[in-house]
Amino acid sequence: MVSARNAPRHTIVHSSEPMMQRPPAPAATPEPSRPGLPRHVGIIMDGNGRWARRRHLPRVAGHRAGVRAIRPVMEACDRAGVHILTLYAFSTENWSRPRHEVDALMRLFGETIESEIGELHDNGVQIRVLGDRRRLSGALQRKVADAEALTADNTTAILNVAINYGGRGEIVAAVRELAARGVDLAELDEETMSRALYTAGLPDPDLIIRTAGEMRISNFMLWQAAYAELYVTDTLWPDFGEAALDGALQAFAGRERKFGTVNDRVPAPVIDAVRASPVG
Ligand code: FPP
Repeated sequence: MVSARNAPRHTIVHSSEPMMQRPPAPAATPEPSRPGLPRHVGIIMDGNGRWARRRHLPRVAGHRAGVRAIRPVMEACDRAGVHILTLYAFSTENWSRPRHEVDALMRLFGETIESEIGELHDNGVQIRVLGDRRRLSGALQRKVADAEALTADNTTAILNVAINYGGRGEIVAAVRELAARGVDLAELDEETMSRALYTAGLPDPDLIIRTAGEMRISNFMLWQAAYAELYVTDTLWPDFGEAALDGALQAFAGRERKFGTVNDRVPAPVIDAVRASPVG
């Protein structure tokens, strides 16, 4: 049963709309600047509330500090040579937070898109939102669509922001859509599934960072994380900066990525096959 608290708000669905609204296909999938770096990094940004509590501030102040942490991390990724970043900003489970916190987060998303989009565009960043955007307010959906349209042809870097995103929901929605399109599910293969996800056309994340110490994946990129290296740091998200990112990248460089094989050295064809980015 859907309780009033969990009931979707602001839904604007038209019957002609596709079941899954994906961001525009990536204009390019930029390579890392040097070997040994992850091509795609995902970050579960956790610890905003604890950051605020330690300062006797309201939780929303922690989220504002969390927003301020994003730009330095993006700049640090750019300097390090990582050009595809996915930030987990709001999960499908986060709707169950107190209403004022959800509203504040939604306001922050809209304000941040508005204040940052110009500079991101000037820097050649393609913005993409992953998740079921139909539950966002009409105004926020328009800001998202405008930001995506403005930056659709940018190729320097890709910034995915996961909002109202859940990995299980993404997989279920993709399968439903494939069935509705008449795809024979008995013949469904991994490549077709990959192309049906919000991340169609992107390489899977090689590294997933979680801040604030919890050893959980929390419904983030469940399909795409199949071979991702996981890195958990106790640093709270608002305190996560260039040094912390470098620590994660160094840890990644020291990992032996086996992709299910037993050899010390992973044969290049295996890596290529696993990392091949489906063209969506
Ligand atoms: C988890 O910390 C953080 C969130 C649920 C929100 C993350 C969102 C931002 C950093 C803003 C992003 C904005 C844009 C525009 C991308 P928590 O509140 O669960 O922290 P706690 O576990 O310490 O309570």
